[in-house]
Amino acid sequence: MADQTALKKLAGYRAAEFVEDGMVVGIGSGSTIAFVVEALGKRVAEEGLQIKGIPTSDKTRRTAAKLGIPMHNVDDVDHIDLTIDGADQIDENFAAIKGGGAALLWEKIVAVNSRRNIWVVDDTKLAPQLTHYLPVEVIPYGADQLFKRLKYAGYQPTWRLDQNGNPVRTDSANYLIDLHFTKMPDPFKLGRELTSMVGVVEHGLFLNIVDQVVVGRADETIAVFD
Ligand code: 5RP
Repeated sequence: MADQTALKKLAGYRAAEFVEDGMVVGIGSGSTIAFVVEALGKRVAEEGLQIKGIPTSDKTRRTAAKLGIPMHNVDDVDHIDLTIDGADQIDENFAAIKGGGAALLWEKIVAVNSRRNIWVVDDTKLAPQLTHYLPVEVIPYGADQLFKRLKYAGYQPTWRLDQNGNPVRTDSANYLIDLHFTKMPDPFKLGRELTSMVGVVEHGLFLNIVDQVVVGRADETIAVFD
């Protein structure tokens, strides 16, 4: 049986095959997407694939550019044909939680501006219901007050801290608060509630976004769900 990294690679390389010459491609973030970037870099070098890449994080921008993928800003293109991204968890209705890698805001901006979205995961990320912690990106000003409100709401918030115990800063210099649910409330209702809270920039619920999911399975086969 393949380990999780091998499955990420298998699925990542398969997902990269959906990219066609001339496309503007949103490129996600995380360890699974690192394999998509690797595969695209090879296609650019070996096949002469011509694409414009739109990054969902500074890290992706740097890695992809190093591999020869021309990277552009999201506001410099007319449209995005396809975005390939990872996910922390996907439920049976194709609702997902993202942001474990702290890139949820740019990821969502790129996703909602894409004509098509593909998520690529190994099969440990699939679940009947969402149980993963939910990342929420917040403005630093007043963040302690917002944290208290989330606590009173019963959402068991924790700060996302780096190895030195300092708040993680996103690529937009915001903080992250992770919410822990014993049982996830209705994701649509929760999403609306979080969006309406002053100080919340974005939350990691990705609903009604994905078109296809590429899954690397434990038996080393790939499943594509539309
Ligand atoms: C980053 C994300 C990533 O897509 C998600 O965390 C999955 O990452 P990985 O492929 O490393 O498991 O949402 O904000």
